[in-house]
Amino acid sequence: MPIAIRSFAKINLGLKIGPLRADGFHELRTIYQTLALHDIIRVDVQPGAGIEIHCNDPRVPLDQSNTCYKIAERVLSSVEARRKVIIQIDKRLPVQGGLGAASSNAIATMLGLERALGTELPDREKLRIAAEVGSDLPLFLVGGTVLGVGRGEQVHPLRALATMHLVVVTPSVGVSTPVAFARWDELVAREAELTGAGAAGTINEFGRGVFARLSESVYSQAASASEPASGVPAVGGDRAETPLLDLVRAGIENDFERVVFPEYPELLEVKGVLEREGARFASLSGSGSTLYGVFASGEKAQDVAVRMKAAGRAAVATTSLSRDAYWRQMFV
Ligand code: C5P
Repeated sequence: MPIAIRSFAKINLGLKIGPLRADGFHELRTIYQTLALHDIIRVDVQPGAGIEIHCNDPRVPLDQSNTCYKIAERVLSSVEARRKVIIQIDKRLPVQGGLGAASSNAIATMLGLERALGTELPDREKLRIAAEVGSDLPLFLVGGTVLGVGRGEQVHPLRALATMHLVVVTPSVGVSTPVAFARWDELVAREAELTGAGAAGTINEFGRGVFARLSESVYSQAASASEPASGVPAVGGDRAETPLLDLVRAGIENDFERVVFPEYPELLEVKGVLEREGARFASLSGSGSTLYGVFASGEKAQDVAVRMKAAGRAAVATTSLSRDAYWRQMFV
């Protein structure tokens, strides 16, 4: 019997882009939040060798470029197992970027494969493999509300925010994350030229956004923030608090909006619709093209999603998913 796992989506509650690092990645500060929206992954192992991927959505690659393939290969090698692995992806999440679906699918594959093989990798090894495959994978080994630092792969569990009622919209434009980062570098360089200031600056010079509503509840967690993810080395006292305080002081805006909206004005338009519909907070998630709005109640979010769908937009109502619920609901 294959092991079936719910592979939940995430959004970014604020994302600050820092300086370009020597390794080609950008230093980031973000808060990830997992959502109830999910795909279903089924993992089966049989005698033999090779990794087979099946998916009901023809846009998903089935070869070695699939994150599920990459993770399965690494898990097999780490536990020194020789088996044929069959992965079935039941795609329910939109394939548009910003929801972390490919990263989440990979972590679901890792956890399903562990169970199918009857083995468990140490937490530290799981985090290492996850970070190797992509910056957005480790958050799915934590779930709930998660502080992301470094290139986004260093994850620290945060206390849960109150359940959020959301409308998630996935316009059918594809935004390339590396291109969005490159546009950000160009923007920073242009601004530095105009002001005569040095480039990008330090982490502490991250944008000074408005203190938005949600940041308040995050701020109150600062003192107790970094109960680190199991397997992540603990960061002590001040060092643990600084990234969170940086993020919160800077507000919870998503820096990608400054480069993605000018290139794709229809995304700014969707944000405007969410705001006019009464969202307390609306934002691009990651580099997009997914956007979300946070509403006062589930009924309100349902109403807005129905209206937006009737107007031809790919909108769906959902809720945030706490860490407890994330782990409780993961195995089908
Ligand atoms: O880690 P991931 O595969 O998601 O990154 C995709 C690309 O996005 C990287 O190759 C890099 O160009 C860019 N990136 C970045 N800074 C980050 C994360 C990603 O520049 N913190």
